[in-house]
Amino acid sequence: MDTVVVSIGGSILVPDDDDKDYIVKLAKMLNRISGKVRLFIVVGGGRIARYYIKLGRSLGADESYLDDIGIEVTRLNARMLIIALGESAYHVPAETFNEALSAAKNHPIVIMGGTHPGHTTDAVAAMLGERAGATRLINATSVNGVYTADPKKDPKAKRLKKVTFSQLIEICMKVEPGAGPNVVFDPLGAKIVARSGIKTLVVQGRDLAELEKAILGKPFDGTVVSGE
Ligand code: UTP
Repeated sequence: MDTVVVSIGGSILVPDDDDKDYIVKLAKMLNRISGKVRLFIVVGGGRIARYYIKLGRSLGADESYLDDIGIEVTRLNARMLIIALGESAYHVPAETFNEALSAAKNHPIVIMGGTHPGHTTDAVAAMLGERAGATRLINATSVNGVYTADPKKDPKAKRLKKVTFSQLIEICMKVEPGAGPNVVFDPLGAKIVARSGIKTLVVQGRDLAELEKAILGKPFDGTVVSGE
């Protein structure tokens, strides 16, 4: 059975736009396909993490402390998906890769949030992909693939259907530091999938039909990142 890690940004899971409706539908889809693939889901922090990070920074917190706050929010978001998934999911967000791998022995779906300061949940998903021997990693994000530039800012940005690992690294490194949510994939995550050759599929996460196809390894609308 294929092992699939899905990185879902908080901006996809809880953007404050029909969140309940989306989470219920996402959980139904994941439960329906959970017998076909071994599933690990890594949930991001989104706007709630950004709110607390900004507030904490204005109060004088250092960046690593703010990362810890971000990690706590990713785990709160992860709990929302755990509630919706019910019995099939490990009952808490796994806090380490070892915990996630142990939990996967008894649960078809295991959810994680962040782990350590200094990176984002995309990098967590990539590292978990290495540890779990993932067949593929799905980046469920707010754009429908990898573009030559940020499509929300640059009207000339072109969508790429296929990119190599080194092209992905180049595109992810181009973005100015601190821009967080505008990066299609965390540069550290990009380096990790590259070093282990983990096929990475970038898909619009709110489009559940396309997300399902990507998870199952079927042709989908988005970008495939691989060594070829
Ligand atoms: P996200 O993974 O959600 O970051 O983690 P993001 O890419 O900025 O946001 P979205 O969800 O895709 O919109 C939120 C914050 O939590 C901290 C970082 O500060 C990150 O920006 N974090 C998260 C860590 O420090 N370590 C982790 O492992 C995960």
